[in-house]
Amino acid sequence: MSQLSLQEIIDKLDELKRYFHASLENMSDLENLKELDSQVLSKKGSIASLNRQLGSLEPELRQLAGAAINQARAEMKSDFDDAFNKMLSESRSRQLELERLDLSEIVADFSFRAGRANLITRTREELEDIFIGMGFTVEEGPEVESDWYNFEALNMPPYHPARAGQDSFYLKHGDPESMLLRTQTSPVQIRVMTTQRPPIYAVMPGRVFRRDTADARHTPAFHQIEGLVVDKGITFANLAGTIETFTKAIFGTNIVSRLRPGFFPFTEPSAEFEITCVICEGAGCRTCSNTGWIELGGCGMIDPNVFEAVGLDAETWNGFAFGFGIDRLAQMRHAISDMRILLDNDVRFLRQF
Ligand code: DAH
Repeated sequence: MSQLSLQEIIDKLDELKRYFHASLENMSDLENLKELDSQVLSKKGSIASLNRQLGSLEPELRQLAGAAINQARAEMKSDFDDAFNKMLSESRSRQLELERLDLSEIVADFSFRAGRANLITRTREELEDIFIGMGFTVEEGPEVESDWYNFEALNMPPYHPARAGQDSFYLKHGDPESMLLRTQTSPVQIRVMTTQRPPIYAVMPGRVFRRDTADARHTPAFHQIEGLVVDKGITFANLAGTIETFTKAIFGTNIVSRLRPGFFPFTEPSAEFEITCVICEGAGCRTCSNTGWIELGGCGMIDPNVFEAVGLDAETWNGFAFGFGIDRLAQMRHAISDMRILLDNDVRFLRQF
């Protein structure tokens, strides 16, 4: 091995320090770090071999060079220890993190997870509240009905043409076509009149079924709310006033109702009730076929044949009834273009209400 001068030793030392620190900064794991230690600082490392080359120097110079080497070694050793300890503790916490058992309780933020009632349910409840405020009670009836309740007692005998408009789901139960999924909430009128004594002021919300193919305005299962008033001296003006009051309560004061002559077997006279088109507020648009009006339901004075079917004296009692679609009303109120979206259960849609 050739002999080195003091200057050369000091240059080598500087080079070694630069190499050592650059390596230290780039170290990413403990194994590499240990490698660097043995390469530079160990008994077989570069520092030791520099030390061995001091022999040829003058004693004075040897002392200086020795001191320089010792100092450099001490600095490198201390930097090494810092880096080693830092890396060791980092690797320990990584290990701990990997082995961590998460036993914490999940505290969910229910403000965005909470579900809510479907728009139809909420609309039904709002309608109930409005009518309760007007002194009505809320009644319910079964979804499976007999032909008598759904049609016959409502003055729709077999082969009555009005039955054709309510294409029914019949059940295989009893005589053919004697039991069905109710096509309207009107049979609940019959149930109320046969179980309660007048005066009766009741609304009857519920689900009804017709063999309709789902399209933008129809679904085979939908909801209606029926109204029934049986008392003495009830007039058509009472009916019109009731409908106008609820229309304003639901839609606000810009929307008004009107009655047009119509036909229903269970009322005489009968009317169809319409409200100002909520899309164009009466100006005329596609939704209302440019009429400015939207049909919402039917109504009328109770037909004496219905009173007879339920055993009430039509000379003593009179009254009115009405019925309309809750889904259709919600569709109008929120300008929902396609009814089917109400049944899709897509939370992005449902969350808006
Ligand atoms: N039940 C009828 C339908 O589904 C709506 C209806 C019309 C109900 C007139 C009534 C009424 O109570 O008086 O088309």
